[in-house]
Amino acid sequence: MQSQQKPEDPLAPQSPLPLYASTTTSEPNPKRKPKKCLKITCCVLISITIVLIAILLFFGLFLFKKRNIEVISNSATLNNVSYSLNPITLNLVMTLILGIRNPNYAGFDYQQTNTTIFYHGTEAGISTMPAGGVKARSSKTIYNTVTMNGTAIMSSQYLLPDLTSGKLPISTNTTMVGKIILFNSIKIHATVQTTCDITINLQSQTSDANCKGNVKMS
Ligand SMILES: *[C@@H]1O[C@H](CO)[C@@H](O)[C@H](O)[C@H]1NC(C)=O
Ligand SMILES: *[C@@H]1O[C@H](CO)[C@@H](O)[C@H](O)[C@H]1NC(C)=O
Ligand SMILES: *[C@@H]1O[C@H](CO)[C@@H](O)[C@H](O)[C@H]1NC(C)=O
Ligand SMILES: *[C@@H]1O[C@H](CO)[C@@H](O)[C@H](O)[C@H]1NC(C)=O
Repeated sequence: MQSQQKPEDPLAPQSPLPLYASTTTSEPNPKRKPKKCLKITCCVLISITIVLIAILLFFGLFLFKKRNIEVISNSATLNNVSYSLNPITLNLVMTLILGIRNPNYAGFDYQQTNTTIFYHGTEAGISTMPAGGVKARSSKTIYNTVTMNGTAIMSSQYLLPDLTSGKLPISTNTTMVGKIILFNSIKIHATVQTTCDITINLQSQTSDANCKGNVKMS
């Protein structure tokens, strides 16, 4: 009874001590405050954890998302063509232009890539591009010079008529194989296949190319 009568004395021994008793001292409340503190700390920790998980989930899904490689430019230009009818000879050099955009948050690394030239379905030359890469979220234009092997098509039944008419149809096939590794863990395979149908005009020394690109991701 006495001790409750003197709440203003904080040093009273064995006091059950109501909360408001300690207003004059900096001593922590022995009972209620730690519980409240624990509750608040718990709530804050849970909230922070939820927010962190949400942020990680968002960035995880966002950054790890598989995005398709895009072919942004795809064309062919004639560098040089020369020919004769007697004897039949043909020298042809072209440049294929392939622009690739990589929208992923990791680089696209491609292997050594071959371009094959066909003349009326007959293989008439291969050109090899070295392996390389397209950095994360950027574009790259690759120029690939291809030389037609005149010897390989010398016996073609189409050659003399085509040379005489002045229009030479050729086609190219480029298959680029590569991969994207997201954060050293998720490997995405990508194949970029482009084909061009090109008509060479021998008189004007010009070319008309119709190219198509096709991207496969897995
Ligand atoms: C075109 O090719 C011929 C034969 O290979 C060569 O003599 C000539 O210098 C070349 N011209 C150009 C502009 O490259
Ligand atoms: C590209 O062509 C070269 C020479 O013909 C060949 O050795 C190589 O295996 C080819 N590479 C691919 C990826 O097809
Ligand atoms: C051109 O084709 C001929 C016949 O197929 C072949 O013997 C020759 O090695 C080829 N030349 C080049 C430079 O590929
Ligand atoms: C191009 O090359 C790929 C791989 O070698 C092949 O699967 C495809 O059929 C070829 N396309 C054409 C039009 O030759």
